[in-house]
Amino acid sequence: MSQKRVLLIVGGGISAYKAPLLVRALEKRGIGCRIILTKAGSAFVTPLSLASVSHNEVHEELFDLTQEAKMGHIELSRSADLVLVAPATADLMAKAAHGLANDLASTTLLATNKPVMMAPAMNVAMWYHPAVRRTMETLRGDGIHFVGPEEGEMACGEYGPGRMAEPEDIACVVEGFLNGKAVYGSLAGRSAIVTAGPTLEALDPVRFISNRSSGKQGYAIAAALARAGARVTLVSGPTALHDVPGVTMVRVESARDMLAACQSALPADIFVAVAAVADWRPKTMVDVKLKQKSSQGSPNIALVENPDIVATIAQSGTNRPSLVIGFAAETHDVLTYAALKRNNKKCDWMVANDVSGDAMGGDTNAVTLLTPNGHQTWSQAPKEQIAKRLVDTIAQHFSAAAN
Ligand code: C5P
Repeated sequence: MSQKRVLLIVGGGISAYKAPLLVRALEKRGIGCRIILTKAGSAFVTPLSLASVSHNEVHEELFDLTQEAKMGHIELSRSADLVLVAPATADLMAKAAHGLANDLASTTLLATNKPVMMAPAMNVAMWYHPAVRRTMETLRGDGIHFVGPEEGEMACGEYGPGRMAEPEDIACVVEGFLNGKAVYGSLAGRSAIVTAGPTLEALDPVRFISNRSSGKQGYAIAAALARAGARVTLVSGPTALHDVPGVTMVRVESARDMLAACQSALPADIFVAVAAVADWRPKTMVDVKLKQKSSQGSPNIALVENPDIVATIAQSGTNRPSLVIGFAAETHDVLTYAALKRNNKKCDWMVANDVSGDAMGGDTNAVTLLTPNGHQTWSQAPKEQIAKRLVDTIAQHFSAAAN
């Protein structure tokens, strides 16, 4: 079997200093590297060190007559089994999203007929910037694969997502990809819809009925599902939280809008209903402010029941996700009510949590997962950890079903 080859494009971010380690990690797995070094990349790593570790010349210029005579940039773009961009800077990603071709790296990305994988690396505020969110969305739509970024301490001293995945992890994902395995994570190839946050039901143009849900648990689950490789749509009520990187965000206000957004995101393999949906909404929204003098007596607000989103999705016939998970926030008799809700709403699993403490709005949660096979309790832990456990359990469920 011929040796697998990667065309590595090294962008201009601080993590470019890890590029030689990445080349070594790929070589260790029998994967050869041709390398393109951008001008900005060469500020962080020298062509000489990359040429030394890869035993190949490093390409830097688009119009280099000597190189064009030996190997044209078009040929270079097709010479590998995979084009890997690491670090993928915001600039390089934006160029690729817009189809710009004004240097060797961007031209190669436009000219290649091979799969492309990117390992983004940038400051956390850049990663969250709406422009980068749009870029990610476009690149995903164009079929670009991603590895990372990871969450952690950055070279700039800030903390959050944006750090390039470790060279060993990137090499491992590349090896899996070249061997036809899942791109990244235990839920690669699966799709999920998550609802999160409160809903807001307008009484008049300024007043509304809502609740204290922060959205933290649902956002953490969406992030964990995306990290496990699932394609995730997060349908969120109004929250103060940042968009989740790598996730399609749909922001809504009312329960009815949330249901419509979930229905348009179908079909999906997994549905996780974490939102604290308002059970009732005002029958009619009055378009003038609901201000009444006390002499007029208290206002009479007629309420009507909202649709039950999870129950509707769980009974959506052929479109029904194969795993529907509800959350039951209770203040007493938690397990009893959760079991009832699992039945009534036709959910496969129900996550019961006691919200008599500060689970709603707080950073930690303690839950019991009810499945048709029994229940397991996960003691008080940060919501990210609860999310990771739930996603691991979801991944086990799918891998057991596949075997
Ligand atoms: O409010 P309740 O305790 O019935 O919520 C249990 C589950 O049902 C949660 O997963 C919640 O997201 C979901 N739900 C829903 N639509 C509603 C009410 C609740 O999807 N209208």
